[in-house]
Amino acid sequence: MTIKTEAWVLHPGDKGAAPQATELALEAFEFEDPGPDEVLVSPLFGCMEGNMGHAVERKPIDICRARGEQTCVVGNAGVMRVDKVGANVTTCKQGQEVLLFCNGVWDKYGYPERIFAYDAPGTMGVLARKQKLHQQQVIAIPENSTHTREQWAAFSLRYITAWSNWELAYGTLRLLVPEKDLPNPVAWGWGGGVTMGELALAKHYGCDATQIASSDERLSAIEALGIRPLDRRGFKDLYYDKSRFRKDEEYTERYIAAEKVFMAHVQKITGGNNVNIFLDFVGVPVLRATLKALAREGVIATAGWKEGMLIEMVRATECIARHQHVHTHYAKYSQGLDAVAFAEKHHWLPPLEGKVYSYEEIPQLFKDYRDGKVGWFPIFSIND
Ligand SMILES: NC(=O)c1ccc[n+]([C@@H]2O[C@H](COP(=O)([O-])OP(=O)(O)OC[C@H]3O[C@@H](n4cnc5c(N)ncnc54)[C@H](OP(=O)(O)O)[C@@H]3O)[C@@H](O)[C@H]2O)c1
Repeated sequence: MTIKTEAWVLHPGDKGAAPQATELALEAFEFEDPGPDEVLVSPLFGCMEGNMGHAVERKPIDICRARGEQTCVVGNAGVMRVDKVGANVTTCKQGQEVLLFCNGVWDKYGYPERIFAYDAPGTMGVLARKQKLHQQQVIAIPENSTHTREQWAAFSLRYITAWSNWELAYGTLRLLVPEKDLPNPVAWGWGGGVTMGELALAKHYGCDATQIASSDERLSAIEALGIRPLDRRGFKDLYYDKSRFRKDEEYTERYIAAEKVFMAHVQKITGGNNVNIFLDFVGVPVLRATLKALAREGVIATAGWKEGMLIEMVRATECIARHQHVHTHYAKYSQGLDAVAFAEKHHWLPPLEGKVYSYEEIPQLFKDYRDGKVGWFPIFSIND
């Protein structure tokens, strides 16, 4: 049987043309009935996420062309109601509310190779009024949860990414330096919602946590979670660009001055001991300063490359300092289950602020996201 619904869809961009932002189109959309390992759901709330923006901007890839599909539906963070389950489904029941687990294609150990509703072929995201997913792409919201569906929608991608990244980063630090030698590690982070989730976990694990950000609203949100906010507007020229460094005198002077201010903060806040775990979701422009701030036996951890991914470092220096570089990509299913159980018990969910966009306002949400007018967890409703 064919299921008929409507969705905000993307079509391929012009072949060979420079990447260009597109408008989403609201269209009728059809797909086949779910198979025995699949579920049919109605999305309730979604959360705007970086790769939804990338898909519409067609940067770094045109996902329709990469997937060889004429029509793609994005949206990989959200909460849905289960309408129907296939005969083999054990992870959820009809009528239950679930969150989206966006592992699209996984390897033999369960870790994601491709992301659902982004680069995983044949997957359809929460911008559709009905969706079909594999049973391991949903996680039941705990019964009688004390948290809202909007919070779980915001949690589903960024906080599960944070869980998997933190588990490896903290575990790596503890292989290097046991708790008896370093009871309260220092954890810092650059970036947005994933970094915030991870630093909230760091606090839970007894770390002294600091997040760097650059707007009054973000700094207040960080402080409200008990994480030390550090305003990067005080060193706004900390943007390393190898092509200009030492070639453009004025740029170099500004960069070095900013790096000095940043390192003075590191010195003061850490009492000269530097940072044990540095979460860097930004990449190239901050890597030089991040590595300078990292303590010996320090861990630099990431799952993101917001401002550039081709990094250079001096291997000898990193080896001698015993710096460990942790790289992860979303999570495997068992980590998703663990993250949800922990979140419910310890109230580890994103703080939400701002309006909830209606389904009709989704193109406006993409525009506001592009213009930097929304917070780290912008929520939209689909079938509520
Ligand atoms: N691999 C995965 O599984 C996975 C999952 C989720 C996200 N990601 C990636 O991780 C990255 C972060 O995502 P997110 O959703 O947590 O954050 P986000 O909402 O994209 O926010 C990123 C934040 O980084 C800060 N920033 C930007 N440029 C900076 C710079 N030059 N120096 C210092 N800070 C800078 C900004 O904070 P201020 O403006 O306040 O300074 C910005 O709000 C993105 O690239 C995303 O695609 C990967």
